Amino acid sequence: MKTQTITMQMIFFGFLFFVTRKGVVAGEVMRLINGPNPLQGELQVLKDGIWSYACYSNWAIESTRVTCRMLRNNTYRESYAARTGYLVCMYNITCSGNEKSIDECMNGVAYKRCLFYETVAVRCGEDKIVSSTQSLLGIGVRLVNGYNQNEGKVEVGVNGTWRSIANTNNSWGNKEANVICRMLGYRTNNAIGFQAPTVTQIRCTGNEDSIDHCSIGMGNSCSSFLYIYLYCSCVSANCNDNSSRYCDVSLGTCESECAPGRYLSGSYCYSCSAGTYQPAINQNVCYYCPFGTYQNLTGQSSCKACPAGEYINMIGGQTSCNVCPPGTYQDQTGQTSCKECDAGTYQNMAEQTVCIACEPGTYQNSSG
Ligand SMILES: *[C@@H]1O[C@H](CO)[C@@H](O)[C@H](O)[C@H]1NC(C)=O
Ligand SMILES: *[C@@H]1O[C@H](CO)[C@@H](O)[C@H](O)[C@H]1NC(C)=O
Ligand SMILES: *[C@@H]1O[C@H](CO)[C@@H](O)[C@H](O)[C@H]1NC(C)=O
Ligand SMILES: *[C@@H]1O[C@H](CO)[C@@H](O)[C@H](O)[C@H]1NC(C)=O
Ligand SMILES: *[C@@H]1O[C@H](CO)[C@@H](O)[C@H](O)[C@H]1NC(C)=O
Ligand SMILES: *[C@@H]1O[C@H](CO)[C@@H](O)[C@H](O)[C@H]1NC(C)=O
Repeated sequence: MKTQTITMQMIFFGFLFFVTRKGVVAGEVMRLINGPNPLQGELQVLKDGIWSYACYSNWAIESTRVTCRMLRNNTYRESYAARTGYLVCMYNITCSGNEKSIDECMNGVAYKRCLFYETVAVRCGEDKIVSSTQSLLGIGVRLVNGYNQNEGKVEVGVNGTWRSIANTNNSWGNKEANVICRMLGYRTNNAIGFQAPTVTQIRCTGNEDSIDHCSIGMGNSCSSFLYIYLYCSCVSANCNDNSSRYCDVSLGTCESECAPGRYLSGSYCYSCSAGTYQPAINQNVCYYCPFGTYQNLTGQSSCKACPAGEYINMIGGQTSCNVCPPGTYQDQTGQTSCKECDAGTYQNMAEQTVCIACEPGTYQNSSG
C-alpha cells in the first residue's frame, strides 16, 4: 500500500513537469493525483507551500480549460470534470506533547466521514536529527502534499490503511505536532500543527496561460463536499478534422486511427480491458484471450502464453492462468491442461514443470 502510493506520486511528479508557454511548470503549481494517468485525477494546487485539493463549488468549464491546457502543453481539445470524494478520517487524537509516538495519543480515537478540508497538517523543524522511529504498535506516520519533507498533511497508518486526521473541535495543535515530528525524527522546537489549507475556489476566465493567473481563494469554507476529479481528454466532436478523427480516451488525444489494443465506439477509442485483446486498428470489438493464454494489462494487441507449470482451459477474459496441482506438471507454455506425473515419479508441489523420480526404496505404480 505504502510502496504503491509512493510510486504513484513519483510517477506523477515525473510526468507533470510540463513547461507551458510562459515557462510556468505545471507540476510546480498543480497536479492530478490518484488517477490512472497524469491527465486524469484529483486536482491539487500548490498554495502557501502545501498541496491542496480544489473544491468543486464554483468550478467552471473555463477552469477546466486552463488546467488541461497547462497539463497538455496547449495541445488539448476539450475536457471534462468532475467527481465527488470523501475521506474517512480519525479524530479525537489528543496528546500532552511528551509522547514518543502517536499511538499514545489515540486512546479515544474515533472515525468519521470527513470533508477533505477538515484535515490537519504539521510543519516540523527543518533538521532531521534521527531517523524515523514509527510506533511500537506498528502505527506509521507520514506527511503528504507538503512542499518540503518536513511539512504536510498528516496521515496515520493504522491496520494497513493510511488515514487523514480531522481537526474536530479544533483539537489539533502544536502538542500533537510535537509528537508527529518527534516520530519522524525532526526537531520539535518549532513544530506547529494546523488545519491543512484547501483551495476553495478557482475562477478562471479561460484565457489564462497558467492556473496561477486565475483567482485562487484559500480557506476551509468549501460550500460543497465535492472536489475536482479532472479528465483532460478530447471530445470526439473536436476530433473531426482530416488527420485525426478519433478521440483516444486513454491517451486523451485525437488520433488518425484507433490503435491496436483498443476498440471504437462512435468516434471514441477505448482500451480493451484486461483478459481481452485487439490486434488490428479501427475495430469495434475486443476479443477474449484464447485457450492457454491470458492478459493482465489493458489496451493490449495480443495475449500472453501461460508459463510452463500453468494452464488455462477457459475463455472469458482471463487475466491469469491456473497453476498445475501437485501430482501434475506442464513443461510447455501456452497450455490448456497439465500432464500427470508418470508411474515411478511424483510431484508434491504445485506449478511445476517436471516430476521427480521416486527415491530408492519407494515406488509409485499409478500416474498422477
Ligand atoms: C509537454 O512538454 C514537455 C516538455 O517538452 C514534455 O516532456 C511532455 O511530454 C509534454 N506533455 C504532453 C502531454 O505532451
Ligand atoms: C465537539 O464539541 C461538541 C460540542 O461541544 C461535543 O458535543 C463533542 O463531543 C465534541 N467532540 C469531540 C470529539 O470532542
Ligand atoms: C474522546 O476521547 C476521550 C478519551 O480520551 C473519550 O472519553 C471521549 O468519549 C472521546 N470522544 C469521542 C467523541 O469519541
Ligand atoms: C486494528 O484492528 C484490530 C483488529 O481488527 C482492532 O482491534 C484495532 O482496534 C484496530 N486499531 C485501530 C486503531 O483501529
Ligand atoms: C479534408 O476534408 C475535407 C472534407 O471534410 C475535404 O474537402 C478536404 O479536401 C480534406 N483535406 C485534405 C488535405 O485531405
Ligand atoms: C502482469 O503479469 C506480469 C507477468 O506476466 C507481471 O510481471 C506484471 O507485474 C503483471 N502486471 C499487473 C498490472 O498485474
